[in-house]
Order: sequence, then structure tokens, then C-alpha cells
Amino acid sequence: MRISVIGCGYLGAVHAAAMADVGHDVVGIDVDVAKIALLSAGKTPFFEPGLPEILASALASGRLTFTTDISVASRCDVHFIAVGTPQSAGSNAADMRFVDAAVTALIPHLNDGDLVVGKSTVPVGTAARLRDMIGASGSAAELAWNPEFLREGHAVTDTISPDRLVYGIAPGDRHDESLRLLNAVYASALAAGTPVVVTDLATAELVKTAANAFLATKISFINAMSEITDAVGANITELADAIGYDARIGRRFLNAGVGFGGGCLPKDIRAFVARAEELGQGESVAFLTEVDVINQRQRSRVTKLVCDAVTRQGIEVTSARIAVLGLAFKPHSDDVRDSPALDVARNLGALGADIIAFDPEANASAQARFPALVTATSIDVVLAGADVIVLVTEWPEFVALDPVHVATLVRHRAIVDARNVLDAQAWRAAGFTFVSMGRP
Ligand code: UDX
Repeated sequence: MRISVIGCGYLGAVHAAAMADVGHDVVGIDVDVAKIALLSAGKTPFFEPGLPEILASALASGRLTFTTDISVASRCDVHFIAVGTPQSAGSNAADMRFVDAAVTALIPHLNDGDLVVGKSTVPVGTAARLRDMIGASGSAAELAWNPEFLREGHAVTDTISPDRLVYGIAPGDRHDESLRLLNAVYASALAAGTPVVVTDLATAELVKTAANAFLATKISFINAMSEITDAVGANITELADAIGYDARIGRRFLNAGVGFGGGCLPKDIRAFVARAEELGQGESVAFLTEVDVINQRQRSRVTKLVCDAVTRQGIEVTSARIAVLGLAFKPHSDDVRDSPALDVARNLGALGADIIAFDPEANASAQARFPALVTATSIDVVLAGADVIVLVTEWPEFVALDPVHVATLVRHRAIVDARNVLDAQAWRAAGFTFVSMGRP
């Protein structure tokens, strides 16, 4: 297949490289000259395990190119829209400017019989509107919706071997041809047995929004339970293990801690509420506002746990040195968008504490958003002289820390485990005051 991918951010860059990796001829298109130059040189604008390798091999094979010139899309048959839908400034709704601009720019280069495939996470109703835009232009191209479920840190495997494929296809004469084109694009995943749900455009858009809403709800549910276990001295991890054995509930996404962040879950649940309100269905998803509130509350909860740990040492927050372990919104990523870790560092800094942070990949991206942040060059440097340590992103190297070694570096032995990943007994045995979230 000859494929264009419009938008070479997180989603588009990975999708373009993955589609070339499975054998298609792909052109990645973006308006950002610097990003295109970087990708053309085989460099990735963000950290994503496995992406540099497939990018290099796809570029070397000649099957993948990048350009800012959208007219080259005219040489392709299938066009993926993979631009961002960030939260609008001043409202919770998704900002659709990039999607609309991409489709508007693409329309003059479409050939009859082409398929435009939406991948971005959008408010339900967008696909029908874009399909009308294409039709109104006189083009005989069709539009389908094929949401993407990739997780950062696992983006390459999630794209090449997804859990499921969802095709939203409008009924009508061109339905079967759209299905044929999508099946050809995903031939290798289909051959590996990936299940496919073929549905209408609105359902396909909603599958993505509903999946993210459910995941966010699961996390806020367990965090709300952890507030209760804290109140009575019960143990949230054992509770999650026990309820997780029920196959109807499942153990995954039941890890209590500082909560969810990133470029997707927070803004997607807010956009879902905003869209439901536009549809007169605000009540149906009002609970998602509470999911967001519970999630935000965990950041203040961790900040308070750290302040309490400082006070227990008989010192003021303003004279405490706090070592923040982690800045990315989750491990194996350098993404600090809506990162709980960065918020905790900011909160503590605003209270006057002496903050020093370290993240294996996200120091630079965090400093770009929070220039006053002081970062360390290594774990040992961040820990040196600390009064309290707070672990906010569960990178494996933090989980593997030896408390006996850490005890030789810090000024006071106190640690807040805001991801519930450390062995409390081992840290206490090394003389640390150990606090976690919802565990005694
Ligand atoms: C998410 C969805 O998983 C993905 O399907 C969608 O396409 C985009 O949004 P991503 O943002 O990459 O992916 O990260 P994910 O692994 O889902 O984690 C989201 C956040 O939830 C992270 O901040 C993570 O630390 C947090 N989380 C996850 C918890 O706090 N507890 C858990 O049990 C699981």
C-alpha cells in the first residue's frame, strides 16, 4: 500500500514508521520543518523504546520518507490523520484546529477512490463532519475512523501488534472498498489473529473515548479506595490484588498512587464531558468530572505526605531539601505533559522547599516546561543531602534502589513512595521513615 500519515507527533511518527516496518510505502507529512528534518535523519523528537530502530531500518529500506510538502499525498491511496487534539485554551473541549487544517490541506491532493482514515482522538461527530467536508469539496475520496490505542513506552509493539482494530466505516456504496483498503493496511496484524470490530463512524470515535474514560475511572476508583484504606490503616495493594482476582474486575490499572497524567487520559476525559454537555448528555458522564477531581487530589495528597515527612524531622519545609525521583508522567517516556510528578515538584517548590529532581529521560523536557526546576545528572547526585525523598515515577532504576546505599547519601532518612512500588520492610530496615499511598 502507498500510505501518507499527516501529523508526525507521537502518534503519527510511530504509525508511519510501523506501517513502513510491516512493508508499506509511507510518507510522513508535517508542517513542522524541524521535526521533519529530525525524522528524515533517523532521529526521534521524543523518547520511545524501539522507535529509533524501526525508523532507521524503514528509512534505509527506502519505504519511509518525511516531508513538509502535503502535495506528495497525491501519490498515496490511504491517508492517516494523526495530528493532535489538545485541550483548548480556556475550556475543556478538544481543540480541533489541527485536524480541520490537516483535512483542508489534504483535500486538493486526494484522488477518487482514496481513503482518508482518522486516527486522532476526537469528539464524537467529528468523522461525519469531516466526511461531509470531503464530499462538499467534490472529491470522491471516502473517510473512515480507526482509533489508536497505543500506550507511550509501548507504542511500537502496540502499533504493530494491537489488542484489537476498530474500523468505523459509513454505510453506502463505498463501504466494502473501505473495508478492503483497511484490511490491506493491517494485513500483517490480521494474519497474526488481531480481532477487528467493524462499526459505524460515531461508534468508532466513541470506542476510543469510552476506553480512556474507563481506564481513568479504574485508576481514580483505586485511588479513592486508597484514601479510605489510609483512614483505617488497611492495605490498598492487598485490596487491589484481592478484587483483581475477580475476572470481571481484573488487576490491571488498579495501582494506587499519584494518579494518571500524560497527553491523553486527562484531556480526553475533559473533552468527553465537554462534548457530552454539547449533546445535552452532561449528566451521563458527570462522574468523569469526579474522576478528574480525585485524580488531581492525589497530587496534593502526595505534596502533603512530603510536607508531613519534613515536619516529622523537626524542620521547616522552607529549609528542607527534597529529592524528587521521576518527572515523566510514567516510566519509559520523556513526556511531562500533565505529569503528576512535575506538579508535585512544582507544588513543593512553591512552598519554598529546595527541590532537586532526576528523571532518566525527562530532565530536559521537564525543564522546558518548568525552567526554575533544578535537575540532577544521576540518582546519587539527586539523593545527596536529601531530607525527604519522593518517588513519583516508577522507573525500574528507582524501584531497584538499595536503601542501605541510599542511607549513606541522604541527610535524613525519609521516603514517600507515591507509586507504591518499593519494599516498605527493606526501607524501614535501613532506618527510613517510609510512607506510601493507602498502605499502613
Ligand atoms: C493511555 C491509554 O492507555 C492508551 O490506550 C491511549 O491510547 C492513550 O492514553 P498512555 O497515556 O500512554 O496511554 O499511558 P497509560 O499506560 O495508559 O498510563 C496513563 C497514566 O495512568 C500514567 O500516568 C500512569 O502512571 C497512570 N496509571 C496507570 C496509574 O496511576 N495506575 C495504574 O494502575 C495504571
